[in-house]
Amino acid sequence: MHIFVTGGAGYIGSICSEELLNAGHEVTIFDNLTEGHRKALDSRATFVEGDLADREKIIGAVATAKPAAIMHFAANALVGESMTNPSKYFRNNVAAGINLLDAAVEAGVKKFIFSSTCATYGTPERVPIDERLPQHPINPYGLSKLMFEQILDWYDKIHGLVNVKLRYFNAAGASEQFGEDHRIETHLIPNIIKVALGQREKAEIYGDKYATPDGTCIRDYIHILDLAAAHMLALKAEKSEAYNLGCGEGFSVRQVIDIVQKVSGVPIPVEVKPPRAGDPPRLISGSHKIMTQLGWKPRFPRLLPIIESAWAWHQKHPNGYGD
Ligand SMILES: NC(=O)c1ccc[n+]([C@@H]2O[C@H](COP(=O)([O-])OP(=O)(O)OC[C@H]3O[C@@H](n4cnc5c(N)ncnc54)[C@H](O)[C@@H]3O)[C@@H](O)[C@H]2O)c1
Repeated sequence: MHIFVTGGAGYIGSICSEELLNAGHEVTIFDNLTEGHRKALDSRATFVEGDLADREKIIGAVATAKPAAIMHFAANALVGESMTNPSKYFRNNVAAGINLLDAAVEAGVKKFIFSSTCATYGTPERVPIDERLPQHPINPYGLSKLMFEQILDWYDKIHGLVNVKLRYFNAAGASEQFGEDHRIETHLIPNIIKVALGQREKAEIYGDKYATPDGTCIRDYIHILDLAAAHMLALKAEKSEAYNLGCGEGFSVRQVIDIVQKVSGVPIPVEVKPPRAGDPPRLISGSHKIMTQLGWKPRFPRLLPIIESAWAWHQKHPNGYGD
């Protein structure tokens, strides 16, 4: 199949593109490189440099590619920034995304796979979080993703655009070739690895008095290759659905630090800071639905191989993509 990938120069989009190409698909990547990296582009893909806000450009790019499906990774994804600059999030993640939906309809694309997030649930009333729980985002980033999910449902009702909304928990790890290099890194694993590489002084723990066994927040980590595999399965979906995507097991911040210490062999100094507003104590995915309906099963359900793959990539690329 020919797949049109927005955000394919970014962390998740680059590795999903690589896996699609490995599986024999043809890939066109559309990215404005504001957050992504030229070196993260798989050389087997066709690359179109452009911004989703440029309506003519995206309509032309999708019409030229005539893809069987679109995977939409492009977005801004910093929760903290969304609390100070909501306009950026609603313009890029919602308004610019509508240009892509119109491009899909004009080109007769029938399938759309969307990178959504567990942040659409806000602070859940229970864990594991399943898809029946209400979505009450607590920041503009989460709301922008929820709005786009709802817009997608109308594009299905009105234009027959079948869509799969994948609500990721914490994507982590690397492939051999591509890894995680956000220009502003807010994710726990790469930031602890930077301490192990001597690029940061210490790991920060935001709050250690939560009602969890060691007092630190618990999150669900999914290996980037398992996440890519879910996208591949989503291509076969025949009707619109939303699926949570995580391994269903939680690890505390302290546990993650311990494993990075073990894998790298480097002691990691930590600093406990005050808790951040709106950080739920536990976010764990109930992924039963995607397992039963799409047959997804994580190949790397444990944290150790996830961190080993991240560490291997960062050791080989201590300055990330270097741009
Ligand atoms: N990383 C995670 O753990 C996580 C968790 C939940 C959801 N997500 C979602 O997954 C997607 C990918 O996340 P990521 O970590 O790879 O982010 P990323 O920043 O590494 O990648 C996003 C890519 O989109 C591109 N982009 C952004 N706006 C664009 C625009 N207007 N036009 C063209 N290209 C544009 C950027 O240049 C970048 O290459 C995002 O939609 C994010 O919200 C990520």
